Amino acid sequence: MFQSLSALPADPILRLVAEYQADTNPRKIDLGIGIYKDENGDTPVMTAVKKAEQRILDTQASKKYVGPTGSPAYNAAVAELLFGAELNASLNGRRVTVQAPGGCGGLRLAAEFLKLANTDATVWVSDPTWANHVPLMTTAGLKIAKYPYYDYTTHSVRFDEMLSCLKQVPKGDVVLLHGCCHNPCGADLTLAQWEAVRDVALAQGFTVLIDLAYQGLGDGLEEDMAGTRLLAASLPELVVVSSCSKNFGLYRERTGAMTLISESAAQTATATTLIAASARAMYSMPPDHGAEVVQLILNDPALRSEWDAELTAMRDRINGLRAKLVAQTRTAGIDRDFSFIQNEKGMFSFLGVNVEQVQTLVRDYSIYLVDSSRINVAGINDANVAYLADSLAAVIKG
Ligand code: LMR
Repeated sequence: MFQSLSALPADPILRLVAEYQADTNPRKIDLGIGIYKDENGDTPVMTAVKKAEQRILDTQASKKYVGPTGSPAYNAAVAELLFGAELNASLNGRRVTVQAPGGCGGLRLAAEFLKLANTDATVWVSDPTWANHVPLMTTAGLKIAKYPYYDYTTHSVRFDEMLSCLKQVPKGDVVLLHGCCHNPCGADLTLAQWEAVRDVALAQGFTVLIDLAYQGLGDGLEEDMAGTRLLAASLPELVVVSSCSKNFGLYRERTGAMTLISESAAQTATATTLIAASARAMYSMPPDHGAEVVQLILNDPALRSEWDAELTAMRDRINGLRAKLVAQTRTAGIDRDFSFIQNEKGMFSFLGVNVEQVQTLVRDYSIYLVDSSRINVAGINDANVAYLADSLAAVIKG
């Protein structure tokens, strides 16, 4: 029966990983997949993570199953990291956090749950959004629609258009927002804009789903949560999917969570049985290692401050690279203004060049980036920033 199958094109982001690896050009630059890189282009295991792993190696007495909702210690630590102690306590039994296999696993789990809650739900995603949001939602049977988000000309959020669109979204639909460090554009909502979105959500009654994959990589662990916390404090319902891939560097360990806030503790208790059943039906239970690392770090003051310092250094480096790239585009004689890159947050920004120019950068300069011109800023370093800007100048001048 397999004769009828036809091949699919490779994932637009993952494809670049293999192409970059196969390239023998010593000047090649990887600005593709969103992983943090240091000045040498490496993605080392964080020191706090190494120490927690050593502790697990020394003390773990059993590898018996953890259960479909994962480790209670991890779930509690994640909830407190997301919401802060006070808000988290005030959410009481209305909140449940369920460990998931990475951010993708959390999003898929959320999609299954949302489909159970409303089989006709449409998920409204930002235009543009992370490419994998669409298959993660539609594979669960949800429909997709787009709301306007990024203006490629002004390099800012098309907020008035976004809000007018959200004012048409009915109760029973889901609006997917990026909690911070928007992927792919790096343009985030201001607090006043989050407030306006909150007001529309209250008026319309739609459900908000927040994808939060970059906490701590924008302005700070607390600062990056302003919008999410505002919504958690004031909406009757909220779903938050969080990932520890980037801020703990745990990519391959698949460490994430789905958090649900509902109107009442009773509703949340009911919902938890459905979420657990979905997890059981898809993967039975999440992998444990990364989650154990995270809960050890978050619950140990010394490990936590070491991790915090490492994360701060990563964030500062990315923000410094944004400034360096902008300065270097001027040195390279490009008269186009790239200063918007400095104002954007997190790992990503668009270079704002067209797809032919992107393909020229890949083919002729071995600079790897997604067709949309999204770059992973962390892939830049002192040794390659001039080559990047000079190549960009050549491509723009044609
Ligand atoms: C990205 O957007 O590059 C990351 O979130 C990694 C991925 O899985 O796509």
